[in-house]
Amino acid sequence: MDHFNDQDTLWLFGYGSLIYKADFPYLEKRPASIKNWARRFWQGSHDHRGTPENPGRVVTLIQESEMICHGMAYRITPDELRHLDYREKNGYLRCVTEIAFEGGDSLEGLIYIADHDNAAFLGELPEEAIARQISRASGPSGSNTDYVIELANALRSMNKIDDHVFLIEKYLLE
Ligand code: SIN
Repeated sequence: MDHFNDQDTLWLFGYGSLIYKADFPYLEKRPASIKNWARRFWQGSHDHRGTPENPGRVVTLIQESEMICHGMAYRITPDELRHLDYREKNGYLRCVTEIAFEGGDSLEGLIYIADHDNAAFLGELPEEAIARQISRASGPSGSNTDYVIELANALRSMNKIDDHVFLIEKYLLE
């Protein structure tokens, strides 16, 4: 929690809604990636894109050797972390990882990650079953389907491919 306390600014890597919904002030943003992490719709959402009775699914990161997860990095001041901790409160924890920017440089930054032992974690399912669950869920932040479509569109606009995300989107559109 206090890893970046001695820094005036830090880099946050967003790989889900933080790519397309940056509702916090930032000083700079840059396309980036993290290595050995796979983006997966394995985290339940009871408070944003679903309800306790009918949870949706949102992305988290799963450690997977050699996998590259593309996203957007933001340079923020530590003051923003209070808002971000609240936004990511349903099972996500701060984690420090190496962020590689497009262009070649890299540094240590922050990700929010929901791991398998948080209460809202739902885990692996085939993409078609994930899409079926998502198609039926919505919550205070909107429909779960919109979360997938907005994420897929954001990745496309950055010229990035994510087979897991795009397959779920395909089933939803069908
Ligand atoms: C992120 O976008 O980096 C975390 C997951 C989310 O808020 O959708």
